[in-house]
Parts: sequence; structure tokens; C-alpha cells
Amino acid sequence: MSLSNRKIGFIGAGNMAFALMKGLVNSGLVPPENIMASDPEPSRFEGLSKSLNITITTDNIAVAKKSDIIMICVKPQVAKYVMDEISQFLKDKLLISIAAGVKTDFFEHYLSGLRVIRVMSNTPALVGEGSSAICAGKYAGKPELEIADKLFCSVGKVAVIEEKYMDAVTGLSGSGPAYVFKFIEALSDAGVKLGLSRETSRMLAAQTVYGSAKLVLETGEHPMALKDMVTSPGGTTIVGVHMLEKGGFSAAIIDAVEEATKRSEELGKK
Ligand SMILES: NC(=O)c1ccc[n+]([C@@H]2O[C@H](COP(=O)([O-])OP(=O)(O)OC[C@H]3O[C@@H](n4cnc5c(N)ncnc54)[C@H](OP(=O)(O)O)[C@@H]3O)[C@@H](O)[C@H]2O)c1
Repeated sequence: MSLSNRKIGFIGAGNMAFALMKGLVNSGLVPPENIMASDPEPSRFEGLSKSLNITITTDNIAVAKKSDIIMICVKPQVAKYVMDEISQFLKDKLLISIAAGVKTDFFEHYLSGLRVIRVMSNTPALVGEGSSAICAGKYAGKPELEIADKLFCSVGKVAVIEEKYMDAVTGLSGSGPAYVFKFIEALSDAGVKLGLSRETSRMLAAQTVYGSAKLVLETGEHPMALKDMVTSPGGTTIVGVHMLEKGGFSAAIIDAVEEATKRSEELGKK
């Protein structure tokens, strides 16, 4: 399904919206004249909107009226305010929400039959390497998921999931960048402790994470097979791996994802 003739409207023009607008324009998926956005203070984004050739207004209703696909890109607590404002203009439109923790039925209550796709993305989308999970609401199906898949593939990789797993995705890939940043910083601290400069240490640490992730994705090999490739008998790596496990590395990560998932469930109930 071609997206090039669909009008896409972003309500909320913050970090995630801009990441996505940039991905859509730069990939050629959607021409800039088909993209509109609204935000309380468009002047803040003058440079960005000019560079992408995108119009930003303060008028959420105008964006909702003119768009075929409406992207809800505001903070979760603002979603109600925005829906109160635009819900009467959503008939026959597709609504895609990236608001963390806001369930599809929240939007469906405003308009029976509204086609809703919910997305949980993450900050690496800002550099075109996001991990996004998408799920369909009650009135959306394969065609709507295909549209969301195309849109979010412009800023990384996409998985289609059932909505009941959205909290787990939040705990894993939504919060995941923070765990990885902690890991990169710990690796680079280790380098500094052993005499390397901070700059060299951080580059080596970040590139090691980036390259290893790329190896997993591009070879399709099991991560443990790749680990075995660098773990020679009696060598240095097995000693390092042993120390990590002695410190509870795998368990700490599983606990982190599990607890973040629980927190996401709690916040969702509020
Ligand atoms: N950043 C992430 O990694 C990430 C990951 C997954 C999901 N998300 C979700 O994505 C959504 C957007 O996140 P973000 O990081 O892009 O946030 P953000 O940078 O704060 O962007 C939200 C934008 O919406 C604007 N806004 C506030 N009230 C509005 C209204 N009534 N109408 C139109 N626009 C309004 C905000 O303006 P003001 O600044 O003036 O309020 C801001 O420019 C959130 O729901 C978040 O949960 C983010």
C-alpha cells in the first residue's frame, strides 16, 4: 500500500515526532508536502521544520481535519486533552499513537469503530535505529498494521505484537537504551581505570556494543554461538564472562526488564 498520497498529521512535534518525520522524508516514503504537525510552540522547531520542508501549526484541529493518518505524539498525560479536542474529526481516519502506556481502547472510547494502532518505540529512532513494537486495536487489522510497519521501518526495525505484551516491550526495548547506556559507561569506566583515555574508552565501548548488535542482526546467528566464537579455551574472554556471571549479570538484566514491566503495568492502571 502506497503512503505517498496519504496526508499524515503529527499532534505534538517533539523528539519522537521529528525523528519519524525525518525518517519518512529522508526515506522518500512520504513527500514533505503531505506531512503536517501541530505543537504549542512551533517557533522552537523552525530550523528543523525548514530543513524538512514541513509545516507546523498550533492548530491540532486543522491537522486532524486535513490528515488521513493522525499520529498522536504527545506525552501520555496530554493524550486526553488532545482527544477531547480532535475526536469529532476522526471519522474514517487511522490513528497511530506512540504515547507510552495509553491503551488502544482509550482512543476507541472516543469514537466507536476508530482504527487505532499503538506503538512503543525507543530513542535510537532519533538516529534511524529505533526498535518499535506495534499492535492493533479492536477495529484495526492487517492493512493498518502494514501502514504502521512501513512508517516505523523508516526509523528502525518493527515487531508486530499483541497489545497484552506492550508492558513487556516497554520494560525491554522502551527502557532498554538506558540499560545499554549504563553498560557502555561501565565498559568505558573500566577502560579509564586501566589507563585508557575517556574518549578512546567510550568509543571502543560504544562501537563494541554497536558492532556486536549488528553481528547478531546481520548473521542471524544465536548470540551464544557468537559468544563462543570469541571465547577460546583457557583464554581471556571466558575469564571475563565468568566474572560477569559471578556478579549476576544475566539475572540483573532479567530482573531489570521484569521490574520495569511491572512498573509499566502499574502506570498503565493509573
Ligand atoms: N522519547 C522516547 O524515547 C519515547 C519512547 C517511546 C515512547 N515515547 C512516547 O512518545 C511520546 C512523545 O515523546 P517525546 O519524547 O517526543 O516527547 P516530547 O519531545 O515532549 O514531545 C511532545 C510534544 O508535544 C507537545 N505538546 C504538548 N501539549 C500539546 C498539545 N495539547 N497539543 C499538541 N502538542 C502538544 C509538547 O510541547 P511542550 O514541550 O510545550 O509541552 C512537545 O513538543 C510520549 O507519549 C512518550 O511516552 C517516547
